[in-house]
Amino acid sequence: DVRTTFKRMAMNDEETVALTAGGHTVGKCHGNGDASILGPKPEEADVEEQGFGWKNTQGKGHSEDTVSSGLEGAWSSKPDRWNHTYFHLLLNHEWESVKSPAGAWQWEPINMKEEDKPLDAHIPGVRRNPIMTDADMALKMDPEYRKISERFHNDPEYFGEVFARAWFKLTHRDLGPKSRYLGPDVPKEDLIWQDPLPTVDYTLSEVEIEDLKKKLLNSGLSQTELINTAWDSARTFRGSDYRGGANGARIRLAPQKDWVGNEPERLQKVLAKLEEIQQGLDKKVSIADLIVLGGSAAIEKAAENAGVKIKVPFSPGRGDATDEMTDAESFNDLEPIHDGFRNWVKKDYVVKPEELLLDRTQLMGLTAPEMTVLMGGMRVLGTNHGGAKHGVFTDKVGALTNDFFVNLTDMSYDWKPASDSHYNIVERKTGETKWTATRVDLVFGSNSILRSYAEVYAQDDNKEKFVKDFVKAWVKVMDADRFDVKK
Ligand code: HEM
Repeated sequence: DVRTTFKRMAMNDEETVALTAGGHTVGKCHGNGDASILGPKPEEADVEEQGFGWKNTQGKGHSEDTVSSGLEGAWSSKPDRWNHTYFHLLLNHEWESVKSPAGAWQWEPINMKEEDKPLDAHIPGVRRNPIMTDADMALKMDPEYRKISERFHNDPEYFGEVFARAWFKLTHRDLGPKSRYLGPDVPKEDLIWQDPLPTVDYTLSEVEIEDLKKKLLNSGLSQTELINTAWDSARTFRGSDYRGGANGARIRLAPQKDWVGNEPERLQKVLAKLEEIQQGLDKKVSIADLIVLGGSAAIEKAAENAGVKIKVPFSPGRGDATDEMTDAESFNDLEPIHDGFRNWVKKDYVVKPEELLLDRTQLMGLTAPEMTVLMGGMRVLGTNHGGAKHGVFTDKVGALTNDFFVNLTDMSYDWKPASDSHYNIVERKTGETKWTATRVDLVFGSNSILRSYAEVYAQDDNKEKFVKDFVKAWVKVMDADRFDVKK
């Protein structure tokens, strides 16, 4: 459990041991009393408790009488300062499982000399047994953790250095790239977990951008190939920790280039073409910019196919990261294993595909109307993973029309379950199946809120609004990780 939890925070074994041991060098656990007499928990407590809850009526109700986790005791001999006794106690003593005064199981040393015991945190002159939690014992019992614990025990300076770095990572990971840090204390060093990017030293004029768009559209790559590559490269963005996104073009690198969700064969074909275009230019333009610009150009063309002239705003300035700048292992966790926008799930999950779509949407920082317009647009652009036909409710694939919404809300059709998560859209008059759909498609008709957005876009007089809103949401996705661009 410890390993899995810390891996989710991109912490390796060494960082995990350092953090747990370093954290538990100071402070203590609290369980010196009967946990059952604590008052109601914060959500159940009355207003006068002001959200604190767990009122403790035992003794002082705090200090030596505190009950929180229910475990009781400190881990090190001087728990109010940074020292190196945690590993000494853990590795050089035998421990047994005993019950704390609150009745929780914890580990205490067998026959520890009185003078080795930590002083009580509150009562002067009193010594108490130190304690270990199951997680602390794992640092001794797990063979990999043990090797690390021994090294830290023998080299306190090294332990201090690893702890300091891991602490900085723990408390700064979700700030995203270093460009988002403020103040004079920002470390000069580039750290791999900050997903560093190269500095970009070029700009592009409007004329150059227009010229590049022509080149991309005439490259032989299809509209869908350009759009899908741009989408896949940008969709990894997570508002939760500002990782992922199109900047860096890490879609060219391991592990992203091999993700099934990115359709590796199509991706390689597009990347090879973009590199060819890049080499033929008089000016250095990053592949990251070319990927996004290819998507913009193809969307402008698709809008034109639907009779709407629109310019997709483009902000150049993305860089191409290298393998050395990429913490490949921690990128594994960004793998899209579902993408409702491309009507795809890697396999069947307990969570329904439409719920997975919501999860991706919130991670990307999109609102429900933005999700709706993007979904409807991407279906008619034919961007489904593997070219699947589900939800492509149009006879003019590749034109940015509002057909998805028009046909989804058209009462001349009936919606019939075909298998677990697939449906047939059947013409009521003839009984013929006109289209097929997934749950992700049909949720835009079945959920009352999503349906209200779908109906707005289905209106005859909103064809242009649909295109404009689609382009706005698309650019939001493409620029989600452009912290340097004013939004
Ligand atoms: C393996 C994962 C960990 C587990 C299972 C764990 C568990 C616990 C438990 C049960 C307590 C007692 C809470 C109480 O009774 O008030 C505690 C306290 C504490 N933990 Fe952890 N912990 C873990 C990792 C960490 C890390 C990574 C840090 C910091 C880098 C940390 C720092 C602390 C500190 C400073 C206290 C004492 C708080 C106080 O004095 O009130 N722990 N931990």
